[in-house]
Amino acid sequence: MKHAVVYTSQTGNTAQLADAIAAALPAGSCGYCGTPNPEAAAAEVIFAGFWTDKGSCDAAMAAFLAGLCDKPVFLFGTAGFGGDPAYFAQILERVAANLGPGCRVVGQYMCQGKMPMAVRARYAAMAQQEPEKFQPMLDNFDRALAHPDEADLAGAAAAVLACLP
Ligand SMILES: Cc1cc2nc3c(=O)[nH]c(=O)nc-3n(C[C@H](O)[C@H](O)[C@H](O)COP(=O)(O)O)c2cc1C
Repeated sequence: MKHAVVYTSQTGNTAQLADAIAAALPAGSCGYCGTPNPEAAAAEVIFAGFWTDKGSCDAAMAAFLAGLCDKPVFLFGTAGFGGDPAYFAQILERVAANLGPGCRVVGQYMCQGKMPMAVRARYAAMAQQEPEKFQPMLDNFDRALAHPDEADLAGAAAAVLACLP
């Protein structure tokens, strides 16, 4: 198997990127697109996608990445907080630190992803108490609602195509 797209997604944002990436790969080259699975680790190149959990990838993806050995890996993910490339770079660095021996990152892509409405209700309540701190979080939440959008999905596909030989 030449390519595998392996991802975790609780609410569907990262799954959207994964589907866009699988569709962008050369026809017939993607032998697996789904959740972490040891069989997928046999692919020549792994496209590993994660949802951001407390500043890094979730535990299931961390375990999958740690089990890879000598693989080229393209990392992609979604995060609730967007708009700051340095924030994404920091997350990607933490995620890459999980990779097993001999693996190398051949490309990466992140975009913002919407969060559950329950989170907005929490921010709204807190913004009543501490507006300076929580109004920006509320504003970020509302910006995230539109993501991933078509431009995010196209960006993921373009980043993948740019890293293929
Ligand atoms: C428990 C939990 C922790 C999260 N931690 C972060 C975080 O540290 N930074 C961030 O930007 N977003 C964080 N998020 C937001 C998600 O990463 C974001 O909504 C992502 O797009 C969800 O992807 P999914 O739909 O593929 O599950 C968190 C969400 C949850 C539920």
